[in-house]
Amino acid sequence: SAGAALLVAAGVSACSEVSVSAVDVPETFDVPLPVPPLAPSRVAADGTRTFRLTAQEGSTQFTPGVDTPTWGFDGDLLGPTLRAARGEKVAVEVRNDLPETTSVHWHGMHLPAAMDGGPHQSVEPGATWRPTWRIDQPAATLWYHPHPHGQTQEHVYRGLAGFFLLDDPAAPDVGLPTEYGVDDVPVVVQDRNVDRDGSLDMSGGELGVLGSLVTTNGVRGAHLPVTTQRVRLRLLNGSTARTYAFGFADDRRFLQVASDGGLLTEPLPTTRVQLSPGERAEVVVTASPGERVRLRSFPPDLGRVVAGFAMGAQDTFDVLELRAAPDLAPSPEVAPTLTTLEPMSAADADVTRTFELEDRSINGRRMDMDRVDVTAELGTTEVWEVRNRNAFPHSLHVHDVQMRVLDIDGEAPPAALAGAKDTVYLAPNRTYRLIMRFEDYADPDTPYMFHCHLLLHEDQGMMGQLVVVDPDDATGGQPPRGGDD
Ligand code: C2O
Ligand code: CU
Repeated sequence: SAGAALLVAAGVSACSEVSVSAVDVPETFDVPLPVPPLAPSRVAADGTRTFRLTAQEGSTQFTPGVDTPTWGFDGDLLGPTLRAARGEKVAVEVRNDLPETTSVHWHGMHLPAAMDGGPHQSVEPGATWRPTWRIDQPAATLWYHPHPHGQTQEHVYRGLAGFFLLDDPAAPDVGLPTEYGVDDVPVVVQDRNVDRDGSLDMSGGELGVLGSLVTTNGVRGAHLPVTTQRVRLRLLNGSTARTYAFGFADDRRFLQVASDGGLLTEPLPTTRVQLSPGERAEVVVTASPGERVRLRSFPPDLGRVVAGFAMGAQDTFDVLELRAAPDLAPSPEVAPTLTTLEPMSAADADVTRTFELEDRSINGRRMDMDRVDVTAELGTTEVWEVRNRNAFPHSLHVHDVQMRVLDIDGEAPPAALAGAKDTVYLAPNRTYRLIMRFEDYADPDTPYMFHCHLLLHEDQGMMGQLVVVDPDDATGGQPPRGGDD
């Protein structure tokens, strides 16, 4: 077929695309949605809030009666929700009880590179890693997941992921639901394939694995009991490859109130929120007493993807049911203004860089742990012009910073992409101009990562290393942060 010919011309074996099966949606949504527990913490005399996480082996039934070996933090799958407030010092004791080296990256967090949990902060089996930093960014829905060199897809796919929620006690009340697990609910959506014998199947095509078993917080066919007029869902695409375009089965409008790095300036009335792997959105949905309505994934707008590359990526399927009680407690009205975001324009940029993403390389290079690809100066603002040169999707995640999208092929971004972003979907053959500022932390010896968040691509080398240096620091370094300061 013409599609197969194109794939071959593009250097992709057509047979890598055949293991596509449609999403297998359960008949009923009778399982109550599990809400990840809030991780316990202890607060030391100096105010440091310390959490403990253990990566361990476990087992999960994605299909009743079929045991699948999975990995989780403090459990069989996924992990507890870490939660901390702006200004707090936090520490995490990350213990690795797995038979393999892993790491834990705090996705979306602004923090020193040595605390970031990338491939240079690996945690050996039996070891404990103790990062510590101060929370210094707006309230947001962040997450954590492993980032071991070349193995990120596998470790996330096996089940290692959790939420890290940040609060800002100084921010005004803007009428968002806030009762964790009741009307403020984190929902991580993931897809997997499981073989007949229960083992996880990692085979996939150009994008990675597109799984037929789609879970919310680790289970298929879940429902969320709704007891209030409005519910806030903190949606995380924790899949390794699949992009979702979430909406409701009846196409109702809802409000998107936040993107990756925190609140949008104002609530965005919409019927869809599209998330590529690693992206988050907070939405507020209004329910009617007694109703049932499903959260559905519609075919995402991936841009001009050549047919064949996106096979299975355009399915429509339900992921979660909302079941409203006959009487709903009143919810506050969402304020018309949520926050203010400092305007950032290309005129503020000290440096402009170009990044060409193609196949598994960035600017023609694949990840090398011993090579620094970008050196940024502390206190400067940079514009990154990022182009996807392929006929299939990529995305760009930059550690340490929250970016803003200036424009896409010269046009202003849609409102959903106008807020703080740490992960940006890159449609085929388009150019995205992103702006970011490097502040607070410099360490000439420890790089941050920037990479495609399609985790297969990341593992295959679509990643670079970014070092932030302090031009005023004559010693070339600074003492590691954390401990007393
Ligand atoms: Cu969510 Cu560098 O990763
Ligand atoms: Cu990619």
